[in-house]
Amino acid sequence: MSRPVIAIDGPAASGKGTLARKVAEAMGYALLDTGALYRGVALTMIRAGADLGDADAATATARSLTATDIDRLTHDPDLRLDTTASGASRVSAVPGVRQALLDFQRAFAANPPDGRPGAVLDGRDIGTVICPDAAVKLFVTASVDVRAKRRFAELQGRGEKPDFADVLADMRARDDRDTKRAVAPLVPAVDAVIIDNSDMSPQQVLDTALAVVREKLPA
Ligand code: CDP
Ligand code: CDP
Repeated sequence: MSRPVIAIDGPAASGKGTLARKVAEAMGYALLDTGALYRGVALTMIRAGADLGDADAATATARSLTATDIDRLTHDPDLRLDTTASGASRVSAVPGVRQALLDFQRAFAANPPDGRPGAVLDGRDIGTVICPDAAVKLFVTASVDVRAKRRFAELQGRGEKPDFADVLADMRARDDRDTKRAVAPLVPAVDAVIIDNSDMSPQQVLDTALAVVREKLPA
């Protein structure tokens, strides 16, 4: 029997990464941050001096990444840079890139590593494209202002001196690209439970999510 999948999608700084980590921990499931795959493609191209707007080069880069490369990239601190995130948002609109990363994500969901009893995947299109049959689908979101404030605080916490107007503009630009692209645009699955956490603490979001999980996945 296939193992249960919990799909967590949402826009940038909606708190999906934080939630996915805690849900995976609570359930003892394996976790895949799928944004890291697109970031990994962008970072590899940036380091090679490749043009991020070159769709063929992006597709070739995504196809060339091995599981070992992905594992190494997920531990690279430069993966979290804003330039990497913006690059990820560009290469993720390329159909060939999405296709190249599809098999890796599905294989992870079907066969979670370390014999884990299930998998949590977080991203933009897990409930709609990657795992349309996921047992649980959550779509976490928050207003663009709240998300920009969270990203701003994160950057400050890293010792950077961001300009709030720039962070907000970047957030809007990324939302725009993610929701309007032709392939796998960011949209809640019809059967997703939407959690707008603009006014919720991370703990409240976790409690809400686990209540949904318990309802959909009776022990
Ligand atoms: O954490 P944050 O939401 O800022 O970024 P992320 O989840 O690491 O994703 C970086 C970029 O990768 C996003 O802006 C999306 O364009 C893209 N992405 C995607 O297209 N599909 C996914 N399943 C995950 C990320
Ligand atoms: O993965 P994604 O980009 O969607 O967001 P994240 O990195 O998990 O969270 C962005 C920031 O929002 C983190 O600093 C969280 O502590 C904070 N936050 C949250 O995740 N959930 C809330 N309800 C409130 C704040």
